[in-house]
Amino acid sequence: MSQPARTKSRSRSPVLVRAGAARIAWADGQMPVLAAIRERFARELPLDGCRIAACLHVTAETANLVRVLRAGGAQVELCAANPLSTQDDVAAALATEHGAEVLGVRGEDRAAYERHLNTLIARAPQILIDDGAELIVGAHRDGAVADQLLGATEETRTGLVRLRAMAAQGTLRCAVLAINETLTERVFNDRYGTGQSTLDGILRATSMLLAGRAVVVLGYGSAGRGVAQRAKGAGAAVIVCEVDAVRALEARMEGFEVMSALAAAPLGEIFITVTGAPDVLRREHFEQMRDGAVLANAGHFDVEINLAELAAIASGPPREALPLVDEYEIDGRRLHVLAKGRVVNLAAAPGHPASVMDLSFAAQALAVAGIAAATEPRTSGVHAVDAAVDQEVARLKLASLGIQIDVLSEAQERYLRPFR
Ligand SMILES: NC(=O)c1ccc[n+]([C@@H]2O[C@H](COP(=O)([O-])OP(=O)(O)OC[C@H]3O[C@@H](n4cnc5c(N)ncnc54)[C@H](O)[C@@H]3O)[C@@H](O)[C@H]2O)c1
Repeated sequence: MSQPARTKSRSRSPVLVRAGAARIAWADGQMPVLAAIRERFARELPLDGCRIAACLHVTAETANLVRVLRAGGAQVELCAANPLSTQDDVAAALATEHGAEVLGVRGEDRAAYERHLNTLIARAPQILIDDGAELIVGAHRDGAVADQLLGATEETRTGLVRLRAMAAQGTLRCAVLAINETLTERVFNDRYGTGQSTLDGILRATSMLLAGRAVVVLGYGSAGRGVAQRAKGAGAAVIVCEVDAVRALEARMEGFEVMSALAAAPLGEIFITVTGAPDVLRREHFEQMRDGAVLANAGHFDVEINLAELAAIASGPPREALPLVDEYEIDGRRLHVLAKGRVVNLAAAPGHPASVMDLSFAAQALAVAGIAAATEPRTSGVHAVDAAVDQEVARLKLASLGIQIDVLSEAQERYLRPFR
């Protein structure tokens, strides 16, 4: 087994550690729910002696999750879910000031990435925290490691698809909690996180004024409705395009213009795809678009804007109008594609704000504590996170906002019990 490649010594310089510590502290200030859980964990030590391996984006928000787990008594080792998202200063501060081992350097190659995963797995962790299922899948390559797992959590939809396929084949040997499907994640992460950060990416790339603009949002799902709401809030005239009749009607009743993408093509000034489907914007739409139109994608993969068809009808190769803006010319009209059609809130902005990750990671921390507290491990398979976790996360967030809500009286409880 190769030596664990800790963050390289160059990435532990005092300057880097200070920069990372400042980032972690800033994010901490936006993460009151995690802070409250950290205080409780420090008192109650629900993870005392627990060995946790995590494969997550090495960011300031993740650093604060690691601090919570360590406060609860866990020994935590972290590797990067994506080499490009690793913040080296955060890794340095986490390792130096918070005592967590971090394997991963920004831009590491595939071989280093796999070596880090394997190092974590070889140390026989008891609980896995994953973002993309690579750690969980890797742990299953060694039956002995998989069999002694108490459980795991998975942050992404893509990871859950993979794990459910394993469960269907009978090869998943531990219980995995689907963090991605908690209500707090779906509502706050997708709607408010994606909504704001998508516009953030577009504004950083273009510095355009949204007020008064015709913004076309393609896809009115969990994430698309957030984008549409935020664009409307910024004063844009929002048009929604959908293929699902119920969602299209819902968008209409929210006050949006609803029409086909072909009808919207000549009207829009900014187009935002957020569907998960390929070729949502294609040749027939490009041919109708007006001069100066901006095209951005907030869907997971860069397949929603068909760039091959755009290139095929453009008069030449795209010109870099700004660092993240490619300008294609078609019959004298200029169309601007942001970040080469990649997910714009991550390619042109730092993704979800810390306040949103506060809720997702609070659910992670509580779910992990639930795994550790279970007297018997759950049966193997993908399980929903206990609804009480959602309630607790929301309750702590409301408390941090100084908001109190009503509680049911005993009589109301009795009356409602059959329906709840
Ligand atoms: N950028 C981010 O941070 C972020 C966050 C969450 C989700 N996502 C991604 O955004 C995409 C959508 O996620 P979601 O959770 O909103 O999914 P969802 O399934 O809730 O919504 C997708 C919507 O798009 C509609 N749609 C599909 N094809 C269409 C088409 N050709 N034209 C118009 N509408 C179409 C569907 O009917 C559906 O209503 C996925 O790729 C997801 O991975 C990105």
